Amino acid sequence: MLPQSALLLVASLLAALPAKADGIYTRKSPVLQLNQKTYGSHIANSNYTSIVEFYAPWCGHCQNLKPAYEKAAQSLDGLARVAAVNCDEDENKPFCGQMGVQGFPTLKIVTPGKKPGKPRVEDYQGARSAKAIVDAVVDRIPNHVKRATDKDLDRWLGQNEERPKAILFTEKGTTSALIRALAIDYLGAIDVAQVRSKESASVEKFGISDFPKLVVLPSGEGAEIQVYDGELKKQPITEFLTQFASPNPDATGKAASTSANNKPKSKPKAKTPPKQSSTEEDAPTDAKEETETKPAQVPEPPKSPTCVLVLLPETISDEAATTALSSVAEIAHKHSLRGAHLFPVHSVPMTNTGSQTVRTALGLEGSKGVEIIAVNARRGWWRRYGNAEDFGIAAIEGWFDTIRLGEGAKEKLPEGLVRAGKTEPTNKEKEKEEKEEVEHDEL
Ligand SMILES: *[C@@H]1O[C@H](CO)[C@@H](O)[C@H](O)[C@H]1NC(C)=O
Repeated sequence: MLPQSALLLVASLLAALPAKADGIYTRKSPVLQLNQKTYGSHIANSNYTSIVEFYAPWCGHCQNLKPAYEKAAQSLDGLARVAAVNCDEDENKPFCGQMGVQGFPTLKIVTPGKKPGKPRVEDYQGARSAKAIVDAVVDRIPNHVKRATDKDLDRWLGQNEERPKAILFTEKGTTSALIRALAIDYLGAIDVAQVRSKESASVEKFGISDFPKLVVLPSGEGAEIQVYDGELKKQPITEFLTQFASPNPDATGKAASTSANNKPKSKPKAKTPPKQSSTEEDAPTDAKEETETKPAQVPEPPKSPTCVLVLLPETISDEAATTALSSVAEIAHKHSLRGAHLFPVHSVPMTNTGSQTVRTALGLEGSKGVEIIAVNARRGWWRRYGNAEDFGIAAIEGWFDTIRLGEGAKEKLPEGLVRAGKTEPTNKEKEKEEKEEVEHDEL
């Protein structure tokens, strides 16, 4: 057993800071996590309506909202975007200020305007339940669906000749969120209309006998009407429609997972084969996972609970220690100038009673000098910066890079330390959060 002091030290070092940097939504959450850049590409420039939560991880009301918000995200999947911005992240702070966020959580509904990139942004003041959120967002999904009658269907069919036409025959007078979302996906590529069952001439012309029924009139002379026979669900319909035209870049749910999608206005490369597009459609979480397992492909690695500890020797004036500290500070400074993420770094003086215990637990007791270690409490590994000869910037930065890329050997964290990192802080953190919440509920 490790002494309590060591547990506390490791608990606070391993958990406190990474917990602050981590958002409340995990990578697998249906809620998209955004920063300023991805907000621009995936929300402000989207043809979709979005709801965006501005939050701080320590805020109790934000944590209370999480289940309802994730439920809303699930219901709105394929219909609208549900996203969150962690305003506690340094890189997001100016953006949250710009958006006029004054308390947490702040929910804003972003509806596309006439001009791309100039959406209407309004505060959502409704109930914080999944249903109320879904209703408010669905209400604002843009409607590009033509409601055609016997009188004007032919005229509509004659417009934009090069585009295929999709027509939903329905008994309903309202335009569902699903058909509105499909019209957004294919905006400019397939024109979408809705015709009521009582428009008998049109119904007869298309030979419709049961409702609802979706048909497509492909472009081109003498093209035959194609009848959709599948379920009235987004994914199979998308598969069907993609035979006739490619959906727009922001049509799939894969947004915000990487910055690969940063050029929202670029046209889809070529006709996307139906198979591929349909897998994209239902695989937003897979796309997110990909960035986790292949960090080398994304410019910024996903935030990880890895942190770096600089274990200082007894004498602070130790030359190697001074060099190591100033190198690490310089690297951190460089990163922050670029707005890039660096692992949280803590220095641990020898006077800290836990310091020696950590050295012992990690088998570094023989070392009296400065030690730099990287620890990932969640995954249960640690690594030692082994180059006692060189604490220069280049060498340490190179070592950081190997961690980032997941290269090199990792040691297993001894049991006690890991458990301390996982269980100890929760109560302690809770207290801390409660305190902070009282102090910071307003920005
Ligand atoms: C939005 O719709 C237009 C057609 O009006 C389309 O060209 C554009 O690619 C769409 N934008 C996105 C981000 O998909």
